[in-house]
Amino acid sequence: MTAFLFLIVFLFTKTQALQNGGMWMLLKRSIGISAMHMAILPNGHLVTFDRTEFGRSNISLPPHMCRNGHQDCTAHSVDFEPVTRAVRPLMVLTDTWCSSGALLPNGTLLQTGGYFTGDRTIRYLSPCDNCNWLEVPNGLSVRRWYATNHALPDGRVIVVGGRGQFSYEFVPKHDNQESAYALPFLYETKDRWENNLYPFVHLSTDGNLFIFANTKSILLDYVKNKVVRTFPEMPGAIARNYPSTGSSVLLPIRLSKENDDSNLNAEVMICGGTSPNAYPLANSSNIFIPASDTCGRLVITADSPNWVIEKMPIPRIMGDMVLLPTGRDVLIINGAGKGSAGWTLGREPVLQPVIYNIGSIEEKVNPKFFIMNPSAIPRLYHSSAQLIPDGRVLVGGSNPNRLYEFSGVMYPTDLSLEAFLPPYFEAPRPKIVRIYSNDSRIGYGGKISIVFDKAAESKVTKDVMVTMIVPAFTTHSFSMSQRVLILSVDAVRNVGLLPSNRYAVDASAPASRTVAPPGYYMLFVVYGGVPSKGEWVQLI
Ligand SMILES: *[C@@H]1O[C@H](CO)[C@@H](O)[C@H](O)[C@H]1NC(C)=O
Ligand SMILES: *[C@@H]1O[C@H](CO)[C@@H](O)[C@H](O)[C@H]1NC(C)=O
Ligand SMILES: *[C@@H]1O[C@H](CO)[C@@H](O)[C@H](O)[C@H]1NC(C)=O
Ligand SMILES: *[C@@H]1O[C@H](CO)[C@@H](O)[C@H](O)[C@H]1NC(C)=O
Repeated sequence: MTAFLFLIVFLFTKTQALQNGGMWMLLKRSIGISAMHMAILPNGHLVTFDRTEFGRSNISLPPHMCRNGHQDCTAHSVDFEPVTRAVRPLMVLTDTWCSSGALLPNGTLLQTGGYFTGDRTIRYLSPCDNCNWLEVPNGLSVRRWYATNHALPDGRVIVVGGRGQFSYEFVPKHDNQESAYALPFLYETKDRWENNLYPFVHLSTDGNLFIFANTKSILLDYVKNKVVRTFPEMPGAIARNYPSTGSSVLLPIRLSKENDDSNLNAEVMICGGTSPNAYPLANSSNIFIPASDTCGRLVITADSPNWVIEKMPIPRIMGDMVLLPTGRDVLIINGAGKGSAGWTLGREPVLQPVIYNIGSIEEKVNPKFFIMNPSAIPRLYHSSAQLIPDGRVLVGGSNPNRLYEFSGVMYPTDLSLEAFLPPYFEAPRPKIVRIYSNDSRIGYGGKISIVFDKAAESKVTKDVMVTMIVPAFTTHSFSMSQRVLILSVDAVRNVGLLPSNRYAVDASAPASRTVAPPGYYMLFVVYGGVPSKGEWVQLI
């Protein structure tokens, strides 16, 4: 009977699609935990975890892994395989609540900090079928709760800020003398209600870090611990970081033909958020004010950068911004229309994702928003979204409640996992046949050649792109280290004996670690605007 019901639900959700508005699939009614934090590993598995302080979860650990002297035999982290939909419970002992992470160059996930028992812990999870979390107590110099991580060109990871922490540090450290470095900017952007937690951190093409908190932003030379640039304040008096949670992306970086990565443009886009007073109004007076409908774009490499403000068709707080493999689109998904981040303070779930086409000055295409088909499931505080190699976006989580609450609350704890299928799933997609490089590892400044089949139905076009995407670590509406590179294409050749659907695209690998930190990427061929499934490649 249960299996029968699942089948109905599955078929029903599969047909919930309108033309070009994308499609939703319910993958699992329950993965046993609420997907507060998400990462995708180079074995294609999704790793997710919430917090150990939620009490018992809805998935059991094998008996030998019980926590707290065998009091609690449930898991607060799981491994999910997106094709078979298999769920494997993982053991995490210390509290990972509101923590951060990044993939290391060797494909192991690094996770840092959290709350109380876990606030200085460093954890590692390697991509294998029976790997489990390894926890290193006191690995951080200071406690980090609501901090942001970013993968760096030297293979290390920077951890920025956190509640009450106006500093950054590196993992691993250069030596055991190295500790945290002061970052007064984080203190200066903190207002009475904070509004500067989970700062937005992006690695610019010049090697410096763009850091945005509340309404302000800087460019930080993290090696010299020096602020090298202060950007104009984002107009509109909207706070963008927790608890006024908006989201931010570094727009796709177009690598140059000359294979010289020293003068590339970098542009940031930040969307949604709310007034800095939204949190106290919701928390103390039960007043839930509308979220902001604005986005701002800033070319952070320009000589005199200025914010360009655009209006989203739907106001949003706690939205996730996910860069799609087309290299032209930003998906804005999840979140609420009113209220604030924080326990039970969000109202009016926004069920419709929006796709923002970034436009192109050269091709005279104006940026544009497209409203997508709605999901049936609210994704409020503690929800997340993550691109996977087949081009789907996994969506899960939502637990605005202090514990797991399944009834008697406005927005119950959600343990489900869905996939959003962007409109390119409705188009005939190209297929990668083979990647010619050095052992599927790609060397800096080298050449790669990708053989692919265009779909028989799709027209012949000169519009062929190769994109490479860093798998992000996502929580609290921000995808840390998320990065899309558009490779420079040298030639596209038809490689059949007779004219056929088989092509090879010759492209240049990124020239430097500054633009492309070492590690795993998902590589896509985009034919006529439609991406293939991605293949994992390692840049070394
Ligand atoms: C989780 O477990 C609780 C207690 O057994 C149960 O009441 C609840 O329905 C379960 N929730 C889901 C989504 O499976
Ligand atoms: C990757 O590096 C980390 C940190 O040095 C190490 O803990 C982990 O075991 C390595 N993973 C693999 C798969 O080699
Ligand atoms: C939020 O509301 C609770 C209960 O009314 C109160 O105890 C707490 O101090 C408030 N928090 C803030 C930051 O105003
Ligand atoms: C190919 O990889 C090997 C090690 O994996 C390395 O020694 C060699 O230099 C690489 N060759 C090129 C052309 O990148």
